[in-house]
Amino acid sequence: MEYKVTTYNEEETIELAQNFEAEKFPNMVICLDGELGSGKTVFTKGIAMALGINENITSPTFTIIKEYDGELPLYHMDVYRLDGHVDGIGIEEYFTKGGVVVIEWADTIQDILPKERLDIKFRVVDENKRVIIMTPHGKKYEDLCEAVL
Ligand SMILES: Nc1ncnc2c1ncn2[C@@H]1O[C@H](COP(=O)(O)OP(=O)(O)O)[C@@H](O)[C@H]1O
Ligand SMILES: [Mg+2]
Repeated sequence: MEYKVTTYNEEETIELAQNFEAEKFPNMVICLDGELGSGKTVFTKGIAMALGINENITSPTFTIIKEYDGELPLYHMDVYRLDGHVDGIGIEEYFTKGGVVVIEWADTIQDILPKERLDIKFRVVDENKRVIIMTPHGKKYEDLCEAVL
């Protein structure tokens, strides 16, 4: 099952992310893909807001992983620079730490992603229009998408 939503500005993408109510789902794993500037970090902002995090969210391209304190901790990753070389980083440990994990460019680390997760693909249509395709894996994420979308 695939869920498709079109947004026409940044705020709508943030709102979509907030609707997932990540604060209620410890160990949630959200995998984001889509070209540079497609809205992955904007979506992450919405997740952070749901967790009550007020800090400015930026792509952790150089640090790979950024942690934020909220109702649940947010583990925000941008794995672009790893180019698939995940050995020794310990990314897997974050999947069961009780926080919410958001991974930008998750496609590049397919092999270590948990089976149960939410995949989200961002397509740029024009300057402000984005088609956002969500694919849940596992019952928990299927139920979540069914409830939200
Ligand atoms: N519908 C939309 N949803 C999300 N971002 C949008 C939208 N329309 C325009 N934008 C702009 O696109 C850019 C997305 O940037 P960002 O989220 O950092 O991309 P990524 O993390 O995928 O590289 C921002 O400048 C944002 O304001
Ligand atoms: Mg980004």
